[in-house]
Amino acid sequence: FPCEVIRNFSIVAHIDHGKSTLADRLVGLTGTIPKKAFGANQQVLDKLKVERERGITESGLTLCSMIYHSHQKYLLNLIDTPGHVDFSWEVSRSLAACQGALLLVDATQGVQAQSISVFHIARERGLKIIPVLNKIDMPVADPSRITAQLQSMFGIDPAEVLQISAKTGRGVETVLQAIIERIPPPSGSVHEPLKALLFDSQYDRYRGVISLVNVMNGVMRKGDRIASCHTGKKYEVTEVGIMHPEEVPVMHLQPGQVGYIACNMKESTEAHVGDTLHQANVPVDPMPGFQPTKAMVYAGVFPVDTNDFIKLEESIRRLTLTDRSVTIQRESSTALGQGCRLGFLGTLHMDVFRQRLEDEYDANIIITAPTVPYKVIYRDQTVIVSNPTDFPDEWGTASHVREVQEPMVKASILVPEEYLGDMMDLCFSRRADDLDHHYLDSGTSTSARVMLTCTLPLSEIVTDFFDQLKSRSSGYASFDYEDAGYKASDLVKVWMIASIKLFMTFLLNGKPVDALALVIHRSVEQKIGRTWVKKLHKVIPRQLFEVPIQAAVGRRIVARETLSAMRADVTAGLYGGHYERKLKHLENQKESKRRMKKIGNVDLPQNAFFDILSTT
Ligand code: GTP
Repeated sequence: FPCEVIRNFSIVAHIDHGKSTLADRLVGLTGTIPKKAFGANQQVLDKLKVERERGITESGLTLCSMIYHSHQKYLLNLIDTPGHVDFSWEVSRSLAACQGALLLVDATQGVQAQSISVFHIARERGLKIIPVLNKIDMPVADPSRITAQLQSMFGIDPAEVLQISAKTGRGVETVLQAIIERIPPPSGSVHEPLKALLFDSQYDRYRGVISLVNVMNGVMRKGDRIASCHTGKKYEVTEVGIMHPEEVPVMHLQPGQVGYIACNMKESTEAHVGDTLHQANVPVDPMPGFQPTKAMVYAGVFPVDTNDFIKLEESIRRLTLTDRSVTIQRESSTALGQGCRLGFLGTLHMDVFRQRLEDEYDANIIITAPTVPYKVIYRDQTVIVSNPTDFPDEWGTASHVREVQEPMVKASILVPEEYLGDMMDLCFSRRADDLDHHYLDSGTSTSARVMLTCTLPLSEIVTDFFDQLKSRSSGYASFDYEDAGYKASDLVKVWMIASIKLFMTFLLNGKPVDALALVIHRSVEQKIGRTWVKKLHKVIPRQLFEVPIQAAVGRRIVARETLSAMRADVTAGLYGGHYERKLKHLENQKESKRRMKKIGNVDLPQNAFFDILSTT
């Protein structure tokens, strides 16, 4: 396949707008999968189980090559793009190997907040955009209104908009035609030295690392000696192939082609997404890589059984090969033992990762409530704190900490106008600033849609913001956010303390209950303190003595509950003489003690921690 007949494209779409259905249609139409093998629910793009379950397409090797016979043979490479806001880095990664993109919009719903940001990334990269309206078979579809929307939002020419039904197959042929007519072929030369972009990778238990590459120049052949610009390491290419839609080995990959290679890379860390590969003895200039990802949400991941730590850590490392955007650090906690602190791009990303860990690696884990990275500005340095435990107890004029800052985001919410008031209330309750809104269309048959923008502290959206947004708008609101830097904020750390004695220890030796620290805004310290103290009161078993449970900011107690004492001595209820029975009771007590975690002078069953710290 010479360059002229190759088209590399991706589909940009909001979740549920029909990307997988359209991909299946394209695959079916091009005869990529024999018709009889093509089950009703078999979606080629959604390979991973979790993607199917959650209905989202994310990470994994998602490339599909098709051969299309028009007046001549074309090689169409569909490179999958995740549609969600958390994955904008993966979006740019997959778009780097494309020359065009289908902007797929549900004709019953219109453009959603998340497709807007992906669209802009595609346009910035100079990709040819083909607007496609899907689901025109549905009676409520309103193609003319949505076309007008595309025109006003993106300046798209209505004449270019295709109308299809991926479900019935209507118009899908025109999509294939548009792909070959409108999207430019990749450029590249067989006479130049080999230069290939590594844009995705996955770990295979038997073959080691499998990488997706886009050959820019030269030819990639089986048996080639290649090297990485990033690490300088050399490899031998043991397999070259295309995804058609499963792996199909081929003799070589030519300029403009995308495909997979195996090259005895053993370690997941060796495959750097954005790396340039070249012939081992013919160095080339590396292509500009990708912007390093920035973790926005952190959470501690611990094995339920502390003996499983090594296994858990290995599973996490394996998983990060298909998902490079996760950052890992070891973390240890008095309450939960040894674990890892992971950084994610967002909360959906965190959920997907957790589920993959559980599904694919059978991990039994506890994941702590998500936190965001704070900036602590000392007199002479600035430190990023991603674990509340490390947040300074006090700061301000009397301390060596000058200021603390929290990450902010610029949020965009797209919603029918009748929900505007509810959305504004929600934003204000989350410390929103610079609230603004404008109408996107006038709304004739259905209600007009409004774009609401504001800045919000990231910490306010990492917990239940998205759920609230959906429930308060009956599911109609769509939401997107982008990084808006850091801003000074009046934040405090709240410690949860059970028992006075511990409190003293904490003050004297600086030994806190690590897992139970939170960083929150000062204005809600009492409210949140009270909620947590109540939670603890519920889960801490009664002790032989009275236990005050308190939430403290520095030395100030902001909330308190008292756990009354339990009746002393487990054997007290047994009348004399039954020596063996008494012994058994004492033995039982000893055993259950062993499974307890001692926090200060209070025994806490590990389960209590799971109950209060678990995010689910
Ligand atoms: P994610 O994988 O979650 O991003 O979703 P997707 O964009 O891939 O959507 P998918 O293809 O899974 O389609 C979502 C739903 O819309 C499914 O129930 C499809 O059957 C339905 N659907 C897709 N295309 C059409 C269409 O043209 N007409 C109608 N009526 N339904 C469609």
